[in-house]
Amino acid sequence: MSGIAGRADWFVHDRFGMFIHWGLYALLARHEWVKQIEQIPDEVYERYFEHFDPDLYDPEEWAALAAEAGMKYMVVTSKHHEGFCLWDSKLTDYKATNTPAGRDLLHPMVDAFRSEGLRTGFYHSLIDWHHPDFLIDDVHSMRNDPLREVLNAPRKLERYVEYLHGQARELLTEFGRIDLLFYDFSYPHRDEQGNPQPWRGKGREDWQSEKLLKMTRELQPQILVNDRLDLIEQGGWDYRTPEQYVPKEGVTVDGQPVLWEACHTFSGSWGYHREEASWKSVEQLVQMLIDTVSKDGNLLLNVGPTARGEFDYRAIERLKGMGEWMKRHSRSIYGCTRAPEGVETPQDCRLTYNPETRRLYVHVFAWPFQHLHLEGMGGKVKYAQLLNDASEVKMLDGGPAEVAGPVETSEQGRLLTLVLPVHKPPVTVPVVELFLK
Ligand code: GLC
Repeated sequence: MSGIAGRADWFVHDRFGMFIHWGLYALLARHEWVKQIEQIPDEVYERYFEHFDPDLYDPEEWAALAAEAGMKYMVVTSKHHEGFCLWDSKLTDYKATNTPAGRDLLHPMVDAFRSEGLRTGFYHSLIDWHHPDFLIDDVHSMRNDPLREVLNAPRKLERYVEYLHGQARELLTEFGRIDLLFYDFSYPHRDEQGNPQPWRGKGREDWQSEKLLKMTRELQPQILVNDRLDLIEQGGWDYRTPEQYVPKEGVTVDGQPVLWEACHTFSGSWGYHREEASWKSVEQLVQMLIDTVSKDGNLLLNVGPTARGEFDYRAIERLKGMGEWMKRHSRSIYGCTRAPEGVETPQDCRLTYNPETRRLYVHVFAWPFQHLHLEGMGGKVKYAQLLNDASEVKMLDGGPAEVAGPVETSEQGRLLTLVLPVHKPPVTVPVVELFLK
């Protein structure tokens, strides 16, 4: 996490991004790891290459949906583990231009998101279950092939690594400024002496991660790189990436808070999944965004477009729902971080804070009857309002003495009690905006 100052200001300010997982697996519509899960041989998987034709693909519409949801950046799978590439890479034939799609799908997407004012990044798989020089290992789609050893004999990992670095160079030189690089993922396997065993698993030595990272930074000095190159101890990362998990307190390394971004799906799969039914509600998703920012993190929310080139209708509903909330509440997210030291979070709430404007946001996850108590905030707030309609929220400094009799002061100092309307405001998550003295 070398010399990050300045490079990450936008990231810490923007907080909310769109992840896009798109590839041939959209045709099978049952998880982006389907080739590995079902151990589908290349010659069978070829039929999806021959039928990939996203005729309804409209990247402007995708970008508009992301912008409307309040997302400020996008990270798309240039290549996922199946090895299929969305752009016209000069280093392979296994790309969109050679399918019925017959065109580069990545350039127009990057352009469309930029024209909506969003920053752009790539998710690039280190793993490749299609490349003829990628050594078959314990994770590979052909891991149980009885001829595994024989098939591996002619494979030269160094040739695959040359390809991997070559494609990274294409992505980092042919698409203008790239703000984020999400390499995925390392699963090292070493013998007792620590020697890598790439026929079992792969890590930094196998990817030549130090060299890849060095090139990435040279070509895009401002870029932010994630933490999956197997260079954690070596500091070869800028931000941590908890996945499908909301950390309890935020992410620290050696006790020091670090940049982090939780990546999540709307449902269980990253790639389009026709039957997957564990779709989160708009309320869950908005609460996840708030909870993440209240712990000083970013949320990267994933969409898996269909093979026709459209966002799943269930994703569109949820993006619009989040956008409806962000329309009135985005200033409680952008530029915000965790509450100042010592400020206690009330029950069933989350706090976010904008140190520039000195405004504290109380996100109310469960609407209480009339009173919301803020320990230790007595005498510290000059004005309060509901954020959705800027209607004033009365404050009882020192607590509702006249209501409940003498109120003992807490060890954190004077209580501040907010007087709320009986009815929960008609928004997904109501927010009280406090203007601190
Ligand atoms: C996991 C999934 C992979 C997905 C990634 C996103 O590693 O296995 O398919 O792309 O998470 O973070």
